[in-house]
Amino acid sequence: MAKLNTTVLSLCVVLAFLAGQSAAGRYYADKVQDKVRKEVEKAIAYNPSVGPALVRLVFHDCWVNGCDGSVLLDKTPTDGTNTEKKAVNNIGLAGFEVIDTIKQKVGGSASCADILVFAGRDAADILSGGKIFYTLTGGRKDGVSSSASAADATLPSSTFDFSQLQDNFGAASHGFTVEELVVLSGAHSIGVAHLSSYQDRLAGADVTPIDSSYQAALIKVTPPGLLTQGQDPTVPNNARDASSAFQKAAAYDPVKLGVNPTRGVLDNSYYHNTLENKVLFKSDWVLRTDSFAAGKLEEYKNNATEWNSDFADAMVKLSNLPALQGKEIRKSCRFTNQQYY
Ligand code: HEM
Ligand SMILES: *[C@@H]1O[C@H](CO)[C@@H](O)[C@H](O)[C@H]1NC(C)=O
Repeated sequence: MAKLNTTVLSLCVVLAFLAGQSAAGRYYADKVQDKVRKEVEKAIAYNPSVGPALVRLVFHDCWVNGCDGSVLLDKTPTDGTNTEKKAVNNIGLAGFEVIDTIKQKVGGSASCADILVFAGRDAADILSGGKIFYTLTGGRKDGVSSSASAADATLPSSTFDFSQLQDNFGAASHGFTVEELVVLSGAHSIGVAHLSSYQDRLAGADVTPIDSSYQAALIKVTPPGLLTQGQDPTVPNNARDASSAFQKAAAYDPVKLGVNPTRGVLDNSYYHNTLENKVLFKSDWVLRTDSFAAGKLEEYKNNATEWNSDFADAMVKLSNLPALQGKEIRKSCRFTNQQYY
């Protein structure tokens, strides 16, 4: 009986979740994209935390040598096991099993790079309740190299200041504007971060400005001293997704702020939070230090529709960054074909 109740309960949770998502059951009339869609819906219903992970994978794959599935590799002939997954800036990367499951379903009909961008697109659609949606086509080739040091040299760090972020996004290999930097940073309305990614905001006299209640609430749930004990716990990126007790301690009231209080939604709440200094990373806060970027923060805070649409456009641009070293359609997303038996 107890077991039955648990089963019924979890079924209800899944159904309630799907009922809340107007994006459920989208069809593409493309075999590969329909299979990806089905698996992403299942994976998120089973474990909502893979949704943000799949969105982040698009950035972390496509930013480094274009969208070539290099972030998925466990091992390559040239890099050994020192692949992008080992990069410091790739801390917390997840969702790899979802990509593996999809690969098993689609076989040789799509590259891992295609699967990854399709999966990120579906996750954004589902997490936004159908408000963020864009069309993509296939044809990307998978790369055969993946380097941790190259990833760290290419991906932005959470301790970057504004000019470093601007240079990183504007680099020739990326070609993204400050507006697109502000738009894409809104992805931090979902998911989680490790203490080591925001510890610089918790201590010291000259930390980048952070709301004092929010800072105190963070210190309480994740005391920075834990790092010296070898622990690196996580908190939600968005105070909206934290417990009521945390919100109280942080003096964070989503409704008063004009934020939809539903946890886990990909929306423009990031802009409300950033303008209150209730945001985790220095790289988020520094957007306030540039007058153009700060204007954009205000604009996206005040216009959710505009952000949904600009975010979708920027994700298309990201998902279409050309694979500089794309060579093959991998048999397994974790290994190059040369090393797959
Ligand atoms: C602007 C420069 C950016 C920096 C410095 C940055 C940095 C970070 C860091 C440090 C984390 C937490 C990692 C951890 O501690 O586990 C994170 C999480 C995340 N980032 Fe970013 N990020 C940036 C841009 C982006 C972009 C462009 C996207 C997507 C389009 C994105 C999507 C995400 C998501 C969804 C998460 C949560 C992942 C999860 O919960 O699994 N970020 N980011
Ligand atoms: C919000 O942005 C959209 C798209 O850019 C625009 O058409 C609309 O007029 C804006 N709404 C307001 C209230 O400014």
